[in-house]
Amino acid sequence: MKQLCYFIFLFIFALQFSSCIEDHADHDLSILPLPQEVEDGHGFFARDNFKIFAPEDDRSYYMNVFSDLGWDTTNENKEGKANVVIKMDYSFKEEAYELIVERKKILIRASSRKGVFYAIQSLKQLVWLNNNQIPNCKIKDEPRFSYRGMHLDVARHFHDLDFVKRYIDVMAMYKYNYFHWHLTEDQGWRIEIKKYPRLQEIAAYRDETLIGHYTDQPHQFDGKKYGGYYTQEEIKELVAYAESKQIVVIPEIEMPGHSLAALAAYPELGCSGGPYKVATKWGVFEDVYCPTEKSFAFLEDVIDEVAALFPGPYIHIGGDECPKKSWKESAFCQRLIKQEGLKDEHELQSYFIQKMEKYINQKGKKIIGWDEILEGGLAPNATVMSWRGIQGGIDAAQLNHEVIMTPTSHCYFDYYQSTDENEPLAIGGYLPLEKVYSFEPIPDALDESQQKYIKGAQGNVWTEYMPTTAQVEYMAFPRAIALAEVVWSAKTSKNYDRFLVDVEKHIAYLSDQGINVANHLYVLDLDMKTEGNGVISVSARNLPQGCSLAAKDSFGNYIREKQFELSKNTSEFFMLNKDGKVVDQKFVSFDQHNGFGAKVDLYFPPSEKYKGFGSATLVNGILADGDSYGGKEWLGFQGESMIATLNFGEMKTLNYGSIQFFNSPDSWIYPPRQLILEGSADGENWKTIIAENVKPSNNKSMLVELPTRNITTQYLRITALPHGEIKSGQGEGNQAWLFVGEIVL
Ligand code: ACM
Repeated sequence: MKQLCYFIFLFIFALQFSSCIEDHADHDLSILPLPQEVEDGHGFFARDNFKIFAPEDDRSYYMNVFSDLGWDTTNENKEGKANVVIKMDYSFKEEAYELIVERKKILIRASSRKGVFYAIQSLKQLVWLNNNQIPNCKIKDEPRFSYRGMHLDVARHFHDLDFVKRYIDVMAMYKYNYFHWHLTEDQGWRIEIKKYPRLQEIAAYRDETLIGHYTDQPHQFDGKKYGGYYTQEEIKELVAYAESKQIVVIPEIEMPGHSLAALAAYPELGCSGGPYKVATKWGVFEDVYCPTEKSFAFLEDVIDEVAALFPGPYIHIGGDECPKKSWKESAFCQRLIKQEGLKDEHELQSYFIQKMEKYINQKGKKIIGWDEILEGGLAPNATVMSWRGIQGGIDAAQLNHEVIMTPTSHCYFDYYQSTDENEPLAIGGYLPLEKVYSFEPIPDALDESQQKYIKGAQGNVWTEYMPTTAQVEYMAFPRAIALAEVVWSAKTSKNYDRFLVDVEKHIAYLSDQGINVANHLYVLDLDMKTEGNGVISVSARNLPQGCSLAAKDSFGNYIREKQFELSKNTSEFFMLNKDGKVVDQKFVSFDQHNGFGAKVDLYFPPSEKYKGFGSATLVNGILADGDSYGGKEWLGFQGESMIATLNFGEMKTLNYGSIQFFNSPDSWIYPPRQLILEGSADGENWKTIIAENVKPSNNKSMLVELPTRNITTQYLRITALPHGEIKSGQGEGNQAWLFVGEIVL
């Protein structure tokens, strides 16, 4: 008998052991954003239905959230009989939770609804990741940042409430907690304000909409009236819906700029008195609210209705991109500047914002403004959204103001996410998934005492080029999932290769749910270098795990190497291979010329945002494509000269010369003011070849000829002096960008 027992024991042990291994291997715990701690268990929750024991006050709320999982859910009054137990434990931080899944029981511990909600979101992901089963595991989790935001511009293109709810659904899945609703713009006013019916009749509609890109000239329009707005009932419905998903809605009412639609409805609010028209194209407009008592009374009335609709702590007052022209030309504004002892129109903007802040504070709310609100003096209690980079955020934190980081470089999901030629039209720029993932919201420049002012980060979805909901989804996801990990997960556990494996499953799931999620996970990111020996070396940058680079020449011959050295005219297909499949490819033509593969030293480095392939960009035999300035073939400099010294390694006689510049003032990109060319035989003694002003041009992609015919030199120094400050139009007051393409010699 003893013997038998022993054998039975061994048999059971072996069975258990093998099933442990199998169960364990079957578990998919690819929850995103990655929880702080995940411990895998053995086996699965023995599924029948959920018998939920929860604190009485919140029972119906939790039952509702659980019903989202699609399983039968019943309320259980006795803890002992329940298989899902929700326990309040006030030692947990507000958004933290613990989730323990065992064979017979699921235990959730948290100190608030938020924590429980997030535990259920993790549970929900586990269900679909594991074929409708819940793997036994233990998760302890809490967010890194308290502000985790996504923004949606419904003014440039209006999307109905059902879509906004779907957007909220995806945000909630990834544990976002703030929805920034951009409700008013030059192109449309989207929130019902009962006291001002013309906002609904006039400001909510534009006569027509620009076709194509803003930089396409001449502008063409579709001739179709476009618009819409949310009624206050709809706003309340959305706010309640978001609240049920632990998301606070922040309404944005733009002032003093981006206000043309309101002026079209109430022209007395502008400095010239109008008439004004709701904008039909994108960009920045010079007509803005005049800082009169009438405008303040209007805005205060608007705020009264807005504050009553949004229970959250914040009202966003915009404050960005407010041209000062109409204020400069207004006798009233100039008098006001004198009367209030203000220095200039920037201080007048600050006066405007501070007055509105005071009003909003009196209503028990705090303001958020874009980083321009720093100019002319920051309103005392304002939170700053740093969008033009991170400097605004650094400045605000150093002034002990709260900051939300949303720099264009990492958080503008209206930028292209792929350099694929077939990408749908976008505003410009280039922000691939990996770059979003690499974002670190706390700048190195802040010391420990200032870091606490960085409350988190936000992804922005401006919809000029997103007329359909499918396009909004395509641009927002999966980049929003990458940002979710930035704001939720521990900095030390971030790992892009792991994220890629996980997010691929999430993309598949979201696609199954009918969401038009983009899929640019495996991006061939070419790198090019030159040592100055007339050779361009091509390799892959950031090669994803499990991927390799291959190339096929124009005759179809495969060259399977990691690095390719090119020293002649050639065309190549570069391919990113994964598991025997080509997952991305790029066709590149290299046209050799006298400067091809020269050694290039740049006196000023290009901007981090537009650094192409570094200095090799200028001499790699690839002409920059005129339109896609978000691509790699342009080097961008803001406010600085481009000073490039080419070294050919030997004396060379040049017979031709030209240099490419991008010319798109609407995108803040200007050709240089002046070009200076110098030659040298030794790199020390220089002779000026020419210094001349650059002639204006209407061409977007400019090819400026260089007078290098019959010049014999070893070194060539090319200096392109920047345009300087933009005096009027788009980007007024900012330093112009200088974009340089290929130097063809
Ligand atoms: C902005 O993108 N103008 C805030």
